[in-house]
Amino acid sequence: MTKKYLVTSALPYINGVKHLGNLVGSMLPADVYARYLRQKGEEVLYICATDEHGTPAEIAAAEEKMTPREYCDKYHQIQKDIYDGFGIRFDYFGRTSSEQNTVLTQHFCEKLVENGFIEKRMTKQVYSHADGRFLPDRYVEGTCPHCGYEKARGDQCDKCTTLLDPTELIHPRSAISGSEDLEVKESAHLFLLLPKLEKEVTAWIDEKEKEGLWPAQVVSIARKWIKEGLRERGITRDLKWGVPVNYPGLEDKVFYVWFDAPIGYIAATKQWADEDPAHRDYMDWWTESPETKYVEFMAKDNVAFHTIYFPATLMGSGENWKKVDVLKGFNWLNYYGGKFSTSQHRGIFADQALEEFDADYWRYWLMANAPESDDVSFSIESFVATVNKDLNDVLGNFINRVLKMTAKSFGDEVPSGGSFGPEEERLFQELDGLLKNYSEALDKLEFRKALGFLRELWVAGNNYIARTEPWKAVKEDKDRGAVILRTGLNLIRLYAAVSKPVIPGACEKMATALNLSPEEEAWPDKPMKEYLAQLPAGHAIHNIDPLFSKISDERAEELKARYGAGEEGEK
Ligand code: MF3
Ligand code: ZN
Repeated sequence: MTKKYLVTSALPYINGVKHLGNLVGSMLPADVYARYLRQKGEEVLYICATDEHGTPAEIAAAEEKMTPREYCDKYHQIQKDIYDGFGIRFDYFGRTSSEQNTVLTQHFCEKLVENGFIEKRMTKQVYSHADGRFLPDRYVEGTCPHCGYEKARGDQCDKCTTLLDPTELIHPRSAISGSEDLEVKESAHLFLLLPKLEKEVTAWIDEKEKEGLWPAQVVSIARKWIKEGLRERGITRDLKWGVPVNYPGLEDKVFYVWFDAPIGYIAATKQWADEDPAHRDYMDWWTESPETKYVEFMAKDNVAFHTIYFPATLMGSGENWKKVDVLKGFNWLNYYGGKFSTSQHRGIFADQALEEFDADYWRYWLMANAPESDDVSFSIESFVATVNKDLNDVLGNFINRVLKMTAKSFGDEVPSGGSFGPEEERLFQELDGLLKNYSEALDKLEFRKALGFLRELWVAGNNYIARTEPWKAVKEDKDRGAVILRTGLNLIRLYAAVSKPVIPGACEKMATALNLSPEEEAWPDKPMKEYLAQLPAGHAIHNIDPLFSKISDERAEELKARYGAGEEGEK
């Protein structure tokens, strides 16, 4: 039934550069999956964008003495370049501050008002005279009335975890300027009447659970929110930077960032379509249809927004919008047991990572250790060990040896002579099983499992070479040597294809060594006995530099010193 795949990863906030934990919880697995589908010949559209609105973006802009627009222009480009460097191949990387998102967000508001799911309410907001603005709850600081903690935030006390209202704080002050010149003012806002949509949302979640396409953890997060009862939620803010509210009397306010951000998925698709309107239509992707499978990737803190609030917005419009089919949620990647922290600059950030090593090194470790069923801790020790063992010793050495032995005994082409024997039969059988398991794990978005099978595919090639000893065969029985190395070269082609979703850079080099055409890098769709005979004798090849290099102990120590390994972080 499925004819095409819409893939999205949670939209990264515009402020700052993301760390490795952000990447592995959304963009990287989405990219691996989208690449896999494309190689299988599926029609895929992978959409992402920067999430550009909200107070943190405004404040970050002010800190850099820029307007929010200038700041977002700058960081959109910075982020785009980094994701490029990581090999993340979006079909489109849009922006929530686009004209398209304004139009769509206002459209949803209009429909929700029309259908009775949005209402205006009066609220009390804290206004800071010194800052000349209303302060969002978490930008009001003061003493907690429950435990006396002096740095409690207006939404919650970090010490005793009590949920607060900013008006409850003792000695309240602005977290932006520190000013105590605050005033509580009445301000009108729009509220999304979620209780009125609860039945429809619950019925839809029931249906999703039956389909079994959401991991248990995702279902339980959604259920927990439903069980606690959906509350009416303010969807507008007294800020200047954002999508302007299209409601009489509220024109000087903007939508809350979590209202317009998910609509950004649709808007970014429209940005993509608007670049080539003769051939692209965003509604081909966003109209509910069993032919389109919509797969979302995100970290667990985003799940409620994607299983409840965003679907509720889509449903409440009364229009036939595509809703998520498969939702892959991730746990946290920690840094030495503590949190990665953008504000404290704790951990390794995407730009730094790329300065140290090729993207493939990181992609491989991150996917092999994806925090799927549990939180996972990154350490330089584990990273170095994995790179050295799996990438360098297992995959890299195999490729090096096969290319070198071939060059030495047969020159720059796939050797001819001989035919498959029992050792090859054994190899084919092993590979057929592993490849099936690998594809199935990718289909099910079980990445750690998938990477285990990928590694076993590499190991199987190594074992084959160890068993057949081509360095001896080429001397004792040249035809036998030719069969083994021809099979070895075909194995490199197999690895260039099946490793590509994960380590695309190294696979490009393998493809260069073997002069592969793009079709030859497609996902294998034949039994190994046929597939590994496809690169014919006489096909030109050439040697390449080693794909990976081992990380030395000194280098590892250097990294640990630079990135504060093992230091106690905030838990
Ligand atoms: N910017 C959010 C975060 O990083 C994710 C937004 S996802 C979207 O947590 F659906 F709202 F776009
Ligand atoms: Zn407290």
